[in-house]
Amino acid sequence: MTEIKPSAALTFVLHTIVIQILAAATVVLGWQAFPNLSVLTLLSCAVAYAVTALLRMPPSWRLCNTMLPLAAAVSLAVELPSWVFMTAFIGMVAIYAPALWTRVPYYPTHRAAYALILAELPTDRPFVFLDIGCGFGDLLFFLQSRRPLGTFIGYEIGVLPWIWGTIRAKLLRRSSISIRFQDMWRASLTEYDFVYTFLSPAAMARMWDKVSHEMRPGSTFMTNTFPVPAPADETVAIRDPRNSKLYIHRMGREQAANTAAILATTLPKTGRLG
Ligand SMILES: C[S@@+](CC[C@H](N)C(=O)[O-])C[C@H]1O[C@@H](n2cnc3c(N)ncnc32)[C@H](O)[C@@H]1O
Repeated sequence: MTEIKPSAALTFVLHTIVIQILAAATVVLGWQAFPNLSVLTLLSCAVAYAVTALLRMPPSWRLCNTMLPLAAAVSLAVELPSWVFMTAFIGMVAIYAPALWTRVPYYPTHRAAYALILAELPTDRPFVFLDIGCGFGDLLFFLQSRRPLGTFIGYEIGVLPWIWGTIRAKLLRRSSISIRFQDMWRASLTEYDFVYTFLSPAAMARMWDKVSHEMRPGSTFMTNTFPVPAPADETVAIRDPRNSKLYIHRMGREQAANTAAILATTLPKTGRLG
């Protein structure tokens, strides 16, 4: 198994704290020379952006850091009630907290990939599809409405996405969708015909180890954007703004030896889902 290294997300959080201290210092020190809050706010945004660029932070963290001084200034000027901040903070924690230890933050699959994933799923027979780290479950809802013979499972450990996905499935009466509060590393993949992931580079070596030991011959593993350390059987271009790729692995005989032992112990107990 791959060793889990200190979280990149934690590093970004620490960088963010330092950047915001620098941005605040810009306003405090600048106030002595030029007491104009609007100008100083814009200057602190520029300082925050410059440091994120210097640290080569990803675009989402650059945007977040650049906007934070502005958001702070606006919130002070408008005097929003404190519960607004508390609610926003709790919401963010409920979505993103797992990224601190898993190194896999939430960001959704681009809609351009949906049709490519759908094309892999059969129309004439039951099957079981798993989205590992399914977020709010949008992909599962899209696929389920177009493949009525399928059973669609999502694993998620973000509290808000899991609650929202579960409520949505109940409200829309989609009984063939099940979103489970489940750590992906603690669940077996032997039951699934199709497994889809959109995770992060940090998780892929360990994921391939798991997939190649647990998935049955004849099943299909798909990974969006982040390849595993094995050549894919098919690589499909996703027409999204990042020109991502969908890597498709058709699990074959070389995995059979690994999965046979696992199947022998798990299938009599659990059976297939669909
Ligand atoms: C990049 S998002 C992908 C969301 C969804 N699959 C999609 O494509 O729209 C990755 C998700 O995996 C979840 N995740 C990370 N580590 C996990 C784990 N150990 N078990 C289950 N879910 C996990 C994160 O909370 C996040 O929602």
